[in-house]
Amino acid sequence: VRAAVFASGTGSNFQAIMETESLACEVALLVCDKPQAIVLERAKTYNVPTFICDPKQFASKAEYEQVIVERLQEAEISWIFLAGYMRIAGPTLLQAYEGKIVNIHPSLLPEFPGIDAIGQAFKAGAKRTGVTVHFIDEGIDTGPIIAQETVTIQEKDTETSLKEKIQKVEHELYPRVINQLLQSK
Ligand code: GRF
Repeated sequence: VRAAVFASGTGSNFQAIMETESLACEVALLVCDKPQAIVLERAKTYNVPTFICDPKQFASKAEYEQVIVERLQEAEISWIFLAGYMRIAGPTLLQAYEGKIVNIHPSLLPEFPGIDAIGQAFKAGAKRTGVTVHFIDEGIDTGPIIAQETVTIQEKDTETSLKEKIQKVEHELYPRVINQLLQSK
């Protein structure tokens, strides 16, 4: 199975996926919308080919996504794992990879969707938050939930310590869910 990871930023989840022993797929492409993203350096260390596609170079989301879809098809990609990809997928991408695009989000969805979910939960004074892996649809962090894991927020937690706890859970949960998904297909 050939998979693509989409990322826009640091890529710690990308790294966790790459460091997984007996991953049930080959990460054959990293798609990145930010030419300066740190994740691109990580891809280099793992010898994963990168496709940098800057949406600013296109007149519409449809045209931007069409170019990506062509590159994915060329690379015979069958699954897409979003890992900090900071864009909402449009119909072009969704239709080409229906039921094959998975995202990870740092909250217990449907709570705290969107940007800075960890900060949102912390500032709301929540007693617990967590991590969700879900199929995407055209909404912001909506779509069928595949797996969730709870993280408790303690009195002594700061936003930084909470972020660390959540990332630790993400890095373990995402590769495990990817393997479960691929093995059940
Ligand atoms: C993660 O918290 C992920 O859940 C969210 O974006 C963040 C990406 O972090 N969608 P990284 O780039 O993988 O370090």
